[in-house]
Amino acid sequence: MDSSVAAVLLNKAIGDNLHCIFVNNGLLRKNEFDDVLHQYKDMGLNVKGVDASARFLDALEGESDPEKKRKTIGRVFIEVFDDEAHKVENAKWLAQGTIYPDVIESVSATGGPSATIKSHHNVGGLPDFMKLKVVEPLKMLFKDEVRRVGKSMGLEPNLLGRHPFPGSGPAIRILGDITREKVAILQEVDHIFIQGLKDWGLYDQVWQAGAMLLPVNSVGVMGDERTYEKCVALRAVESTDGMTADWVNLPYEFLQKTSNDIINKVPGVNRVVYDISSKPPATIEWE
Ligand code: XMP
Repeated sequence: MDSSVAAVLLNKAIGDNLHCIFVNNGLLRKNEFDDVLHQYKDMGLNVKGVDASARFLDALEGESDPEKKRKTIGRVFIEVFDDEAHKVENAKWLAQGTIYPDVIESVSATGGPSATIKSHHNVGGLPDFMKLKVVEPLKMLFKDEVRRVGKSMGLEPNLLGRHPFPGSGPAIRILGDITREKVAILQEVDHIFIQGLKDWGLYDQVWQAGAMLLPVNSVGVMGDERTYEKCVALRAVESTDGMTADWVNLPYEFLQKTSNDIINKVPGVNRVVYDISSKPPATIEWE
């Protein structure tokens, strides 16, 4: 949503001189790359989709440390972006949809007022070799303010109302190392949860929701067979800016149906739990 608002704003200012690059890092939501790419094209944006999934997933292989995972994603993002920027003749500026909370939560303990909680991949500037200057028109705004800017420019409600989704996606929602199989499991679980929220009319009452894949297996029973499979945690929070958040009191009937759907439809998962922790002290993402 942040990048979309930044793109539309810049499109108004410089039209086709704006070259939007939408990178599939293999860590998006199910179907998100194709859906969003089409929507951007329909909005008249000069956008190019770059599928770099393999590059990101290969680079993440074997890495379990949350900050190292973020740094790897940040590094590969810059590499992919640099490759693409070279294909745009005479490009001088890089625009990003960075918003204020991204900046505050990534500022270092020595460089700013708060300790580094999590280093968001789009914060921290560009390596010198890129020679691009950065423009971040939304840098001083909170998410609800960005939504207002988007609304005033006529962006579709479905784009503006999208829940925040971390650029590092499932990489920080899969605790431990990342594999293609785990990403696929989590995308299915997340899809069932998010689609369920929409079907039950709950999506807009929730600020952010998603699923976490936990690094534990537990014993279950399927028919008369013993299973020993993965556990997922569902998380839904209310917030205005992501800086503080409360867990949402979702209806038990909804949780019951969602849990059954997940366990019946996603092979490899035999247990679902619901996260009832607020921020602080817990953060929204588990990593
Ligand atoms: P936490 O987990 O710090 O999340 O309570 C606050 C908000 O920031 C998002 N978040 C991220 N967004 N890259 C992003 O683009 C990241 O590495 C990242 N980590 C957390 C989180 O989804 C929530 O909206």
